[in-house]
Amino acid sequence: MTTLQKGPLIVTGASGQLGRQVIAKLIEAGAGPIIAITRSPEKLADLADKGVEARKGDFNDAATLGAAFAGGKRMLIISTDDLEPGKRLAAHSNAIAAAKEAGIEHIVYTSLVSPVAGNPVTFTPDHKDTEAMIMASGATYTILRNNLYADLLLMGGGQSIGMGQHFAAAAQGRTGYVTRADCARAAAVALMQETESRTLDITGPAAITQGDVAAIFSEISDKDIPYIPISNDDLRQAMVGNGLPDFMAVAFASFDEAMAQGYMDIASDDLAELTGEPGQSVRDFLIENKAALLAPPQH
Ligand SMILES: NC(=O)c1ccc[n+]([C@@H]2O[C@H](COP(=O)([O-])OP(=O)(O)OC[C@H]3O[C@@H](n4cnc5c(N)ncnc54)[C@H](OP(=O)(O)O)[C@@H]3O)[C@@H](O)[C@H]2O)c1
Repeated sequence: MTTLQKGPLIVTGASGQLGRQVIAKLIEAGAGPIIAITRSPEKLADLADKGVEARKGDFNDAATLGAAFAGGKRMLIISTDDLEPGKRLAAHSNAIAAAKEAGIEHIVYTSLVSPVAGNPVTFTPDHKDTEAMIMASGATYTILRNNLYADLLLMGGGQSIGMGQHFAAAAQGRTGYVTRADCARAAAVALMQETESRTLDITGPAAITQGDVAAIFSEISDKDIPYIPISNDDLRQAMVGNGLPDFMAVAFASFDEAMAQGYMDIASDDLAELTGEPGQSVRDFLIENKAALLAPPQH
């Protein structure tokens, strides 16, 4: 039997895809009370019937956070989605200061694998420094270093299948892709149960190459889809050519560079140990989402 820690449990970023899945897991487990923080409380109107209190809070507007976090005991801080280096850190720093002020006892944070100097992912320092701030906050903590979402493969996968070629700038690097649903499971369990301070790698069961990804696309589409390794410059230029702003192309291409250099080559048992269940494999996830992968592109 696991022990549910007493709330109130605060979930920030509650209207995002991960936030909503975490809240669903908390409700399913009967944990609470649940306080959902979001910049857009109107998006959470459906949760009121389920006993969830939605409050407005914006990490970029520190004045909103005192009232938002008041009375909370344990908190999941979902990292923000800003791609410009430094912006996440400023936002997270406001959240951590307000959490301290509100007397939060345990903080769960969604970080990224390998938040170390040298990792080319452009916002690595934001995660690294946020982790350090949480560790120094006085609260106990669970740092969840999520690997790349397998869900991201659904975005480019349709295109690879359509073109009959899977382009990436990851060389032969491996990635321990994890599904967003598994990240939500980990975050919910940590928020409900963890009491010690721990840093965990939340990953899928195996780290795979882009060649392996292409082989799964081939299997699903019943076509031969080879992996075509390209240079990071070519990847960035292709993204800009497709209309992506330069700073976004730089950020996304930095993931491929991190893969190429081995920073995403992390597959750990931490998810299974934390939740009692291993993560879903990329192959099973992509097969489950075959219809989305094979759907004609939306224009
Ligand atoms: N590991 C990976 O591969 C991967 C991939 C994508 C993203 N991520 C990270 O994981 C997080 C959750 O993923 P997701 O799939 O749920 O992303 P998402 O659906 O794009 O949601 C973005 C989240 O950021 C929150 N946010 C943005 N600006 C904020 C601010 N100023 N103050 C407070 N919250 C703010 C949003 O909260 P509200 O809109 O409710 O205020 C929302 O929860 C992302 O924000 C990002 O940091 C990881």
